[in-house]
Amino acid sequence: MAKKVVLAGGSGFLGQSLAEFLTAKGYDVIILTRGESQQKDHARYVHWDAEQMGEWSAEIDGSYAVVNFTGKSVNCIYTKKNRAEIISSRLRSVHVLAQAILACQSPPNAFIQAGSLAIFGDTKKLCDEDAPHGYGFSVDVCKQWENAFFAEELVATRKVLLRIGFALGKNGGALEPLAKLVTYNLGGTVGSGEQYISWLHVDDLNEMFLTAIENEQCSGIYNATGPTPVTNREFMRVLRKVKKKRWAPPAPTPLVWLGAYLLMKTEPSLALTGRNCIPKRFLDSGFRFRYTELEPALLDLLT
Ligand SMILES: NC(=O)c1ccc[n+]([C@@H]2O[C@H](COP(=O)([O-])OP(=O)(O)OC[C@H]3O[C@@H](n4cnc5c(N)ncnc54)[C@H](OP(=O)(O)O)[C@@H]3O)[C@@H](O)[C@H]2O)c1
Repeated sequence: MAKKVVLAGGSGFLGQSLAEFLTAKGYDVIILTRGESQQKDHARYVHWDAEQMGEWSAEIDGSYAVVNFTGKSVNCIYTKKNRAEIISSRLRSVHVLAQAILACQSPPNAFIQAGSLAIFGDTKKLCDEDAPHGYGFSVDVCKQWENAFFAEELVATRKVLLRIGFALGKNGGALEPLAKLVTYNLGGTVGSGEQYISWLHVDDLNEMFLTAIENEQCSGIYNATGPTPVTNREFMRVLRKVKKKRWAPPAPTPLVWLGAYLLMKTEPSLALTGRNCIPKRFLDSGFRFRYTELEPALLDLLT
């Protein structure tokens, strides 16, 4: 019988990509969604409310692993209401999944949590897993998220948290809007251009999730990003090259603020800040990246 992996919040950008990848590897994939229960594409969707135990928790019993992608998107304006939901959707889902695991007769081998490199704040210093944390709302979200995850005591289940970088994939994620800007000759350097983008190809991210699912030695916190972060200036240059566009006017910081709030309805800090992270633990364990350079990664996804 195929091993079952439950992807909570797996209806989004990263979950859909992992569902397809795991299905191709022979896993039986269940997606927990606030939407309706149904069989679709690569998975069986099961309704949950991401807050309370319910019929869905039977899916956790006997599963091989649980991966939690749940959380209100951070791609929004940080109003009081949105901030509260960004935090509560993450903490509540962690807690209720842990409750469901504790109630299992046959608990999963691994509970894997999607976290974020945003915990390092806005920094140009090279950050491995042990680097100091930053300051601000996004950092606080990550700290509360990680603390909630590691506070849950699950004796029979290995816990892994992947601090995910700027994941490049098709059908969603942060690459799509940037590629659109380039198409309209608006893909210039953003702000100072000195902020770092710690990127990785989603194929490599899926392999990292597979490692977390299958490798019994994999435990604790990992930076889930590529080995070669670049500045925004370099990222936009390579993106323009791949899309065969020559030059585009830079977007100075005040314009980014206006455009983010008025047109894109999102926080300007998402584009104006960054971090320079490396996946030290994955590299030390011999993880082999398919994409270490940005240009081939973008060529694969955009051409
Ligand atoms: N994409 C990246 O590059 C990246 C980088 C770093 C960290 N991450 C983190 O990785 C996780 C997955 O990322 P993603 O890009 O796949 O996100 P996504 O596309 O926004 O998917 C997240 C899923 O969470 C569920 N959800 C949304 N709002 C919710 C709420 N208020 N309460 C409960 N569930 C809610 C939704 O599923 P339903 O509507 O079906 O319930 C949604 O499909 C997120 O926590 C994100 O912060 C992503």
